[in-house]
Amino acid sequence: IEQSKRLAAFQSVTSHLVPFPNYTRIGIGSGSTVIYVVEAISSLLLPSTLSAMTFYPTGAQSEQLIEAAGLNLQYINKLPPGALLDVCFDGADEVDPALNLIKGGGACLWQEKIVVTSSKKFVCVADFRKISKGLGTSWTKGIPIEVLPLAANRVLGELKRMGSLEPRVRPGLPGKAGAVVTDNGMWIIDAPFKPLRVHGESDREGGEWQVDELAEELIRIPGVAEIGLFYGRDGVQQPEGGAQKPVEAY
Ligand code: A5P
Repeated sequence: IEQSKRLAAFQSVTSHLVPFPNYTRIGIGSGSTVIYVVEAISSLLLPSTLSAMTFYPTGAQSEQLIEAAGLNLQYINKLPPGALLDVCFDGADEVDPALNLIKGGGACLWQEKIVVTSSKKFVCVADFRKISKGLGTSWTKGIPIEVLPLAANRVLGELKRMGSLEPRVRPGLPGKAGAVVTDNGMWIIDAPFKPLRVHGESDREGGEWQVDELAEELIRIPGVAEIGLFYGRDGVQQPEGGAQKPVEAY
């Protein structure tokens, strides 16, 4: 598995950064696969090229990765209004045939969504375990949803009404009481649904959802800060020009 992650990371950097030494702003996602992306960037690019590039993290983990590799670090709030990153590399927990994703296994989904949608190009780096016929079919515990702690019970109730099977607040590390607290002081609810339809429409009564339709309902629940579905009907871009789902996955 580690070898697969490393190969995917080196391939993605070879295809989407090495040929573009003019790129100056690069997003770096979170998770264990991104460690290999940073390794690939450090080893495949010339020091003179790297010195002209700036790297934007999606949370505390990727901030440390960027710093440890000696790369130039900058925060997304320093990006001028209307400006975009050239490319963002990030992992995923599940990838469906239309390149819709579940992300947030590492609880970094909110900042990931901000950085990804602030990038012209999103390259997803994921090993073979992540391939899914319909999101929710594989080994993930459901769709991660970042919520205001105060609203957690309200959101849990709404998720059950929508057909989620046993949604729960993600617990902290074993032996540590309480919930996982994100980089933004929020909690994560993991909400399993029946495998999401890639195309067509939802059967809401039966709790069988199409990806875009479920995403658009979930984000409307009061108390939900962000959801771990990275989705979009083919060709649909965010209004500001950023990518909502990957242009390419490795
Ligand atoms: C972090 O919140 C996630 O979105 C990660 O990108 C995702 O969980 C993939 O992580 P791994 O690379 O560790 O599998």
